[in-house]
Amino acid sequence: MSEKSTNNLLVIFGATGDLSKRKLLPALYSLYEQDALEHTSILAIGRKPFRSEEFRTYLRSESLIKTEYADDRDGFLEKIDYLELPMNDPDGYGPLRTFMQAHREKNITFYLSVPQELFEPIVSGIAHIGLNTASSKVAFEKPFGSDLESATKLNAFVTQAFSEDQIFRIDHYVGKETIQNILAFRFANSLFEPVWNNHYIDNIQITATESLGVENRGAYYDHAGALRDMVQNHLFQVLALATMEPPHTLTSTAIHDEKVKVIRSLRLGKDLLSHVVFGQYAGYKDEAGIPESSRTETFAALRLEVHNWRLKGVPIYLRTGKALSGKKTKVVVEFRKNASILYNEQDELDRNRIIFEISPYEGISVGFNVKEYGETKKTRAVWSEFIQTKEGPEAYARILSDLLLGDHTLFTRWDMIEESWKIVDHLVHCKENCPILHSYEKGSDGPEAVNTLLEMDGREWYE
Ligand code: BG6
Repeated sequence: MSEKSTNNLLVIFGATGDLSKRKLLPALYSLYEQDALEHTSILAIGRKPFRSEEFRTYLRSESLIKTEYADDRDGFLEKIDYLELPMNDPDGYGPLRTFMQAHREKNITFYLSVPQELFEPIVSGIAHIGLNTASSKVAFEKPFGSDLESATKLNAFVTQAFSEDQIFRIDHYVGKETIQNILAFRFANSLFEPVWNNHYIDNIQITATESLGVENRGAYYDHAGALRDMVQNHLFQVLALATMEPPHTLTSTAIHDEKVKVIRSLRLGKDLLSHVVFGQYAGYKDEAGIPESSRTETFAALRLEVHNWRLKGVPIYLRTGKALSGKKTKVVVEFRKNASILYNEQDELDRNRIIFEISPYEGISVGFNVKEYGETKKTRAVWSEFIQTKEGPEAYARILSDLLLGDHTLFTRWDMIEESWKIVDHLVHCKENCPILHSYEKGSDGPEAVNTLLEMDGREWYE
């Protein structure tokens, strides 16, 4: 055990897990490179029987930390200790207490990067050895609960040990640069804010597709499905930012208040079955950990509305899925068509559009019509584009940095989770009773019915 002592200690539960390897440790390394971890050390906790030095060797061998300068990497690794702990047994947290007694860190942040079944035992274990002090913080990876009931129960449990201002519920999408830019774009431009309503906006399309399948996460994913894995959290966060009212200041509370209001005003169509499409990719049941009888949706699309003064009547279409033709995350805001009285008399004028590109590249595009060169009455559609060339901090680096600072803005407040589950519970219920689970080919654009969803409204997805 090393003798170092800093002011902050970040304790990562599940440090040998997939997320920690792929995202958390590389993000922490990037914070270290920016000198943002000067006063922070890291305690990695897992079930694997490593000593600290063995864990560091393992991190080196997995080449998680990519740098040309071995010295830098060693400096970072020196910050990390490892502790083997039976995370699911609150009575087995003695070694953590012993570790803490040997160290003098004042502010402890617990990061639970573990399956949610372990949330309660870990919170109990921390409380059992008295580490839930007023200066501590606790962060939970998503998903927070698997429906309204389990989320409420979990929240009641956690709030016995920690107060709301000590709790950080993570949604890494909110840490993405362009997703944060949605608010700035809407409320820092007098050109766009006045038209952000049902007089001008025709519809909003939110897409988050992936080419990867479930990989090695079958056991988790088969209980989650696209609705719980992506819609309840990431897509609803994006939807909230694209549709909420301006907060009166950019403080965490003011932003969360407006987000919750908009999620509370979401409405699903009365004839819900005609407003949803669920699919499963061919070959899903052959993946590790997936039962032959699985009816889990690896694809979900739906139409809903924000039932408020500003946006009532504007359809919002969401779609997300795995094993599709490509990784694509974006928000398309389509404006109503102009009457073609003056221009393009024979053809329709193209719509104005605003596109927030989130993946594979980040940027914002505005589509408008200009006169066709040499013509008088004919126009063509062109784009003005902002491309985010500066590589911003990875979403997880931003999330971890805000967590260490104790800033709640990019985390999810309990009432938003509660409201989101109310809607997603409905959708899950609908899916379970939905006779149709479309099959789609890997590498395709999903079930054909996803196009019908918009065609019924006389619209189409803007690709
Ligand atoms: C995670 C989901 O929260 O987000 C994964 O559990 C999904 O299933 C991932 O692949 C997508 O994140 P990103 O940042 O790659 O779009």
